[in-house]
Amino acid sequence: MKFTRANALRGTVTVPGDKSISHRSIMFGALSQGTTRVTNFLRGADCLSTIDCFRRLGVRIEDTPEEIRIHGRGLYGLRAPDGMLDVGNSGTTARLICGILAGQNFVSELNGDASLQSRPMKRITEPLSQMGAQIECLLQNGCAPLRIHGSCLHGIHYRSAVASAQVKSCLLLAGLYADGPTSVTEPFLSRNHSEIMLRHFGASVVSEGTTATIYPGAELHAQEIRVPGDISSAAAFIAAGLIVPDSEIRICHVGINPTRDGILKVCRAMGADITLLNENHGNGEPTADLLVRHSTLHGAVVEGAVIPTLIDELPLVAALACYAKGTTVIKDAQELKVKESNRIDVMVNNLRAMGACVTATEDGMIIEGDHPLRGTVIDSCLDHRIAMTFAVAALGADGETGIRGADCVRISYPDFYKDLEKLQKS
Ligand code: S3P
Repeated sequence: MKFTRANALRGTVTVPGDKSISHRSIMFGALSQGTTRVTNFLRGADCLSTIDCFRRLGVRIEDTPEEIRIHGRGLYGLRAPDGMLDVGNSGTTARLICGILAGQNFVSELNGDASLQSRPMKRITEPLSQMGAQIECLLQNGCAPLRIHGSCLHGIHYRSAVASAQVKSCLLLAGLYADGPTSVTEPFLSRNHSEIMLRHFGASVVSEGTTATIYPGAELHAQEIRVPGDISSAAAFIAAGLIVPDSEIRICHVGINPTRDGILKVCRAMGADITLLNENHGNGEPTADLLVRHSTLHGAVVEGAVIPTLIDELPLVAALACYAKGTTVIKDAQELKVKESNRIDVMVNNLRAMGACVTATEDGMIIEGDHPLRGTVIDSCLDHRIAMTFAVAALGADGETGIRGADCVRISYPDFYKDLEKLQKS
């Protein structure tokens, strides 16, 4: 796939549903009494992996053009799968489902693609073991494939070394099956979709600062869910609108949960002109339309508590920094190394190949802005966020940029290139 400099991006775009919320709607719906209906569900490969896993656990899930219908089986209604569960590329599916499987009365096995098999699972298997779970890493390397022997679980208070919503959500789900409350304290607050949605389904979940606690005992009840647009997908259009001169883009119905809106804060700190319209703070997950106009950007220091609120958008921040005046420093972001690819190395290598002045650090990168980028061939390393980032970076670069493995955007945004192209034509 090839990308070249754009003249102006103009028009309106509606990004697909939020990936994190789509996964959770299937999982929590499966564990509920009654039929959960989900609209604006993200039909990306990761969320389809979650559907596939829960079907294999005996849950009937209908996928109609209007909605996804999950016929819940209650907390104790899952059945043993007849083979390995395949989570594909999805770390969220792998880690959250382990929390559920740890509390069942059957054995299950789980695996995923090559990237998934290199991602750390000790961060969940260790605390789950403290709760009484029995989980084997079949290759003894701390990664999938995993075998999970369902067990009786005990509530714990876990102090996580990383701010990770996947770890937190895994333990809260295991906590549904524990004999007492389960708490997770994080160094900084990670996305809180599980806490919000579990409460909607009827679970007893209390959040205090960076600690979330679940009290077992409540049944979950089916809900109607309208998934907001994914701010992580919207971020690609935010960056594109900021980079390409004369652009003005409206991105409709985007989730702006404060545990996810770091990209708005950081872009504004860099000088971005972003206006929120149609704000709706009605039902747990706030939304707004985002109006983005081309802006002159300057560098910023991105660190600390904001990092978990834009962890998936940091590749885009690095690309934006190349178009900003001055230096941008990204710190406290060592988690980037254990995403779908090592996003520090992959960003630094690819940006350098385009002529950027960027250095990798232990926990992030330093980018000297205002070095013109030039097109080259980029290796996405089959990481959807990397492919989208370079499709955007190319819109302001000289010459032609090719992206190897560009099709990996099907993980979170199957129509991404089409939607980007529409803005160039309108
Ligand atoms: C996610 C949490 C984040 C994020 C991932 C989705 C989730 O991962 O990077 O894309 O849905 O809980 P970590 O929990 O590993 O930070």
